[in-house]
Amino acid sequence: MSLHFNISEKNILIVDDNATNILLIEAILEEEGFANTFSATSAIDAYEVLDTTKIDAILMDIIMPEIDGLEATEAIKSNKRFSHIPIIMVTATDDDKLLKKSFELGAVDFVRKPVNQVELIARLNTILQSQEKDALIMQHSRFDAMEEMIGMLAHQWRQPLSIVHAIISTIQTQKELGILNDEELNTSLESIIKHTNDLSEMITTFREFFKSNNTPKLANANDAILESVSLLKEGLENESIALDLQLDELEPIFYIQNLLIQVLTNVIINAKEAHALHKVDKPSIIINSYKQGNKINILVEDNAGGIEEDLIGYIFEPYFSTKQEKNGKGLGLYLAKTILTHLMEIFLLLVKMEKVNF
Ligand SMILES: Nc1ncnc2c1ncn2[C@@H]1O[C@H](COP(=O)(O)OP(=O)(O)OP(=O)(O)O)[C@@H](O)[C@H]1O
Ligand SMILES: [Mg+2]
Repeated sequence: MSLHFNISEKNILIVDDNATNILLIEAILEEEGFANTFSATSAIDAYEVLDTTKIDAILMDIIMPEIDGLEATEAIKSNKRFSHIPIIMVTATDDDKLLKKSFELGAVDFVRKPVNQVELIARLNTILQSQEKDALIMQHSRFDAMEEMIGMLAHQWRQPLSIVHAIISTIQTQKELGILNDEELNTSLESIIKHTNDLSEMITTFREFFKSNNTPKLANANDAILESVSLLKEGLENESIALDLQLDELEPIFYIQNLLIQVLTNVIINAKEAHALHKVDKPSIIINSYKQGNKINILVEDNAGGIEEDLIGYIFEPYFSTKQEKNGKGLGLYLAKTILTHLMEIFLLLVKMEKVNF
């Protein structure tokens, strides 16, 4: 993929306690067309620049008094707002241990002092290009997912829209013919209100889905289970549904907690709704998490009778619901499946970039 980006728009931050070094690097960058360079002579100054400016890459000196480059790198990488910014270490040190440590802390590359112009620019360009590519791919994946959803939403909108259109046409005709009575008018208006409410609710569901805070982080998958359960606990207790959590000890993984919570709450709500429909003696929901190879499995099981076999093929379809009279939209499992399959591509990129800007 060939990428063209304007280096004069890239904001580069140079962190070095030695002002001469800063001037030298600034001169190199300027000569190569980088018009926006920022500098800081200490880590504290660097944090201030980061706070106020959208920085695209950082050139970080390793050895500095007080807070050194390693500590500063660690602090920047552990801050959600800045962790996506690539850091290139600039160092006079021959100490490989220090370099190794800086990579462990999240630096992406290094250049040695005295800085060689060709080397510095080549490394900086490579990093900025890869950043640009990731952003582009992510944008495309996001558009694919959104396009599919919007297409489907548009398709689903047609039916209620044409119903509303037909009702209004009928009212118009009845009025023209002088046969419109109050009772019929009221029924028609109520029907219009119901259908337009449905349309508006569909939009809300989709907007919530895209709006939520989707930042991947290193966490335990059990945390998402506990969070979902705590959100729904009261409702389950009110219905006397026993909750049995069988959570194995799991290692932390990178994942988007909010999305997993959305999936789990949809599935648990379905179990709760199934219990409301089919009364059983001791209603329960069992949630079981365990590791299998490099996968984490999460099982949600209820004893409300299960799903009829001939319906199984349809339950992940958008707008398939057996609970229409209870206002079921048939979106819960569709969204859950979309999150777990389609959005995985985006997820992998986000993990790589350590950020997401939905
Ligand atoms: N635990 C369950 N027990 C029995 N049937 C289920 C269960 N979970 C899902 N289903 C069936 O799958 C259908 C689709 O579920 P889905 O969550 O997608 O939609 P919904 O619950 O009907 O509506 P929404 O989630 O949008 O409010 C349900 O209408 C129901 O028939
Ligand atoms: Mg549901």
